[in-house]
Amino acid sequence: MTRIGIVAEQQPETRVAATPATVRQLTALGYEVLVESGAGSASAFSDEAYAQAGAQLGGTRRTWASDVVLKINEPTDAEIELLAPDATLIAQLGPALHPELVDKLAHKPITALALDAVPRISRAQSMDVLSSMANIAGYRAVIEAAHEFGRFFTGQVTAAGKVPPAKVLVAGAGVAGLAAIGAASSLGAVVRATDPRPEVADQVKSIGGEYLKVEVEEAMNSSDGYAKATSEAYNQRAAEIYTEQAAEVDIIITTALIPGRTAPRLITAADIALMKAGSVIVDMAAGQGGNVEGSVAGERIVTENGVVILGYTDLPGRLPAQASQLYGTNILNLLKLLTPNKDGVLSLDFEDVVQRSVTVVRRGELTWPPPPVQVSAPAAKEAQPAAPAETTQEPKKFGAGAKVLAFIAGMALLFLVNAAAPAPLSQHFTVLILSVVIGFYVIGKVKHALHTPLMSVTNAISGIIVVGAIVQITSGSLAVQLLAAGAVLLAAVNIFGGFAVTRRMLAMFSRGSGS
Ligand code: NAI
Repeated sequence: MTRIGIVAEQQPETRVAATPATVRQLTALGYEVLVESGAGSASAFSDEAYAQAGAQLGGTRRTWASDVVLKINEPTDAEIELLAPDATLIAQLGPALHPELVDKLAHKPITALALDAVPRISRAQSMDVLSSMANIAGYRAVIEAAHEFGRFFTGQVTAAGKVPPAKVLVAGAGVAGLAAIGAASSLGAVVRATDPRPEVADQVKSIGGEYLKVEVEEAMNSSDGYAKATSEAYNQRAAEIYTEQAAEVDIIITTALIPGRTAPRLITAADIALMKAGSVIVDMAAGQGGNVEGSVAGERIVTENGVVILGYTDLPGRLPAQASQLYGTNILNLLKLLTPNKDGVLSLDFEDVVQRSVTVVRRGELTWPPPPVQVSAPAAKEAQPAAPAETTQEPKKFGAGAKVLAFIAGMALLFLVNAAAPAPLSQHFTVLILSVVIGFYVIGKVKHALHTPLMSVTNAISGIIVVGAIVQITSGSLAVQLLAAGAVLLAAVNIFGGFAVTRRMLAMFSRGSGS
C-alpha cells in the first residue's frame, strides 16, 4: 500500500501539509498516512487528532522514507537525503526562483511536484496554493494593520464625538489585494484600490472598494493569469496617484507583483513622509524586493514621522490552522487528480496540463520548465488577430466539398419534411430553425464564465410556456388540460429555479447579500 508521509516543517514555519480532516480523505483515496509526531502542534492539531483520523504516527526518518512526502516549504539538503528512491515529494518548491534546488532534486531518482507551479486555470483553482495562501495573507495583512493602527476602521457617531472611518489604499488587486479589500471594507473602512489590469474594477467594486484607474493610453491584459510589466507613462501617472493618496489615507497595503521579477517600487520615502503619524503600511511584497521604499522583509519598522511599515513574509503562517486546512485541501485535490481510481496508486499523466506544469522532476529526469499554459481569454482588441490562428490549428474533419454536399443533403431533407408535413408544422419548423441559428450565435458570443447565469436567466424567461399552457388549460379535452397543467407546473419550477440560481450566483459576487 502506498504510504503518504506528512513531515514536520522547520522552524519558524507554523503550518502543516495535512490536517486531521484531510488525512481522513487521503485514507479514503486508498493511501496509508503516516504523520511525523508533533507535525501539527504549531497549527493546534494534536497527534491524537491525527490518530483519530486514521493516521499512524512516526519519527522523522520513517516519515521521510514514505512513498509520497507532503510538505509546505522546500526541503533542506539534509531532508532531501532522507527521501527514499522512487519517492514523490509534493511541496512549494519555487522552481523558478531556486534553480539550485531543482538541480539537487534532479540528482535523485525521485519525483518532485511543485504545488506553487499550478497554472492559473479555473480547473486547477482547487489546487492553487499560491491563491489560497495569498487570500489568507491579504486578510491577515488587514488584521496586522488594524492591530498597529490606534483607531477604529469603521466610522461611528458616539456621545463622545464623531469618528471618521479609516481610509485604506490597496495597491495591486490580485488575489491578496482582493482579500485585503474585502477584509478592510467589512471592518468598515473606506477602501480604494489600484491595479494596472482594468478588468479588476468590477471585482474591486463588488467587495466594497473603489477602483482608482490610472488613466493612460495602455490597458494591461494577461494571458497567463498574472500581470505583465507596466509602461513608463503608467508608472508616472500611478506615482502621482500614490502621492495624492499617501497624504490622505491611514493605511496602505501593497500587493503588487509581476511574477519572475522583483516587486515594482510603488511607494517612495517622499510619499511616506506625507503620511500622518500612526499610519500603517503593510508591504506584502517585501519578500520579493518590496513595493515600499524602506520596508524590510520580515521586520516591523517605524519611520521618523511615526509611520509603521510591516514587511512580514509569514502572513499565512500567522493564521496557521486556517492556512493548513486550505493548503491540505489543495494537496488533497491534487492527489485526487493523481489517483483517478481511488486505489492508493499514484499515477502521473503528462497529457494533463496541470500535472505536467507541477512536475519539476520525474523519476530523476528534469522536467522543468514546463511548456507555457495560456489561461485567460485575451481582451477583445487582441482577440481579433488571434482568431484566425486558432481556426487554422483546428484539425480539419471535413474537406470543403464534403461540407457543401452535407449542406445540400440537409436542405433536401428539410424540403422533403416540409413538403410532406401539415401546414402548421412547417411554420413551427421555420421558427425552430431560426431560433436555433439565432441562439447559436447569441450564446456563442457569450463568455464561458457567464454561461451558468445566462442559462438560469433563460430558464426563467422560459416562463412564456406558462402563458401558452394557461391558454390551453380551458380546453374541453381532459388530455389537453392535463398536459397544460403539467406544462404550467414544470415551467414554474424552471422560472423559480432559474431566478433562485441567478440570485445565488449574483450573491456570490456582492458583499453582504446571500446570507
Ligand atoms: P497576484 O499576481 O494575484 O497579484 C498581483 C497584482 O499586482 C496583480 O493584480 C497585478 O496586476 C498587480 N500589479 C502588478 N504591477 C503593478 C503595479 N505596478 N501597480 C499596481 N499593481 C500592480 O499575486 P497575489 O497572489 O495577490 O500576491 C500578491 C503579493 O503578496 C505577492 O508579492 C506575493 O508574493 C505576496 N504574498 C505575500 C505573503 C506574505 O506573507 N507577505 C503571502 C502570500 C503572498
